[in-house]
Amino acid sequence: MRGKIYFVGGGPGDPALIAMRGMELLRRAKTVLAPGFFKDTYKEHLAGKEVLEPFDYHHAELVARIDACLDRGDDAVFLVPGDLAVFSPVQSIIDYFGESAEVVPGVSTMNAASAALKRTFDLPGVSHSTIVTSPKTITGSPDSISDLSRHRSTMVLFMNNKPVEELVAELSEGYAPDTPVAVIYNVSLPGQEILMSRLSALAADVDHGRFRDEDVFKLVIVGGVLAATEDPSWWDRRKDTRDARHAAKKK
Ligand SMILES: C[S@@+](CC[C@H](N)C(=O)[O-])C[C@H]1O[C@@H](n2cnc3c(N)ncnc32)[C@H](O)[C@@H]1O
Repeated sequence: MRGKIYFVGGGPGDPALIAMRGMELLRRAKTVLAPGFFKDTYKEHLAGKEVLEPFDYHHAELVARIDACLDRGDDAVFLVPGDLAVFSPVQSIIDYFGESAEVVPGVSTMNAASAALKRTFDLPGVSHSTIVTSPKTITGSPDSISDLSRHRSTMVLFMNNKPVEELVAELSEGYAPDTPVAVIYNVSLPGQEILMSRLSALAADVDHGRFRDEDVFKLVIVGGVLAATEDPSWWDRRKDTRDARHAAKKK
């Protein structure tokens, strides 16, 4: 019987953050596609397996390697950085394998960043929406950070090599100068570091070389939620609303 390829959310780096189902599939797989630092962070889980760096191959070669594995009747695991839902360049491979492909969700870097900051991204009266975006990448899509900043919602930016002055200029189209900004490097990895700043101070606060280096993993989070406190009466309002709804149903 032909094997399957499982696209497993590998999380932000720490293997303790993979889902139990993903870990079980990884344990059973003979072939694993492990991009970037996963070869190191998952080292003990990859021992004795055929481990491929997916970005070493062009598309046709890569799917041929996976096809050969599935044709032998073996399963393969593709460790997807973070979670498939955001900025995952694997859609064409999932589509190629169709019914032979399955996806297991994972912890996105932005979930791990929220945990590291101990901050939710929405608070009543501060921001009810979260914009997840990234500066222009190899897709060539137009940058829309200036336009998006006008919503003044919480913004999560998966950063590549945009200079900090340019980023600040675009964000300043919408956000006030005193808007809190967090830069989080290497979430869940040994070098994890959090820099808290304000939009007007960000260019002075960051190490420009490190910020521009696309090999340095970082997220930028912008918005009032980073510093706001939640009015505890919202808890009581939620409880009262729920109690009223249940009482109405019982009538
Ligand atoms: C191609 S995207 C992958 C996003 C992934 N699908 C997710 O759910 O987090 C790669 C970008 O994610 C961010 N990233 C990935 N791992 C990270 C980490 N451990 N710490 C901070 N940022 C990370 C960086 O912005 C990096 O440029």
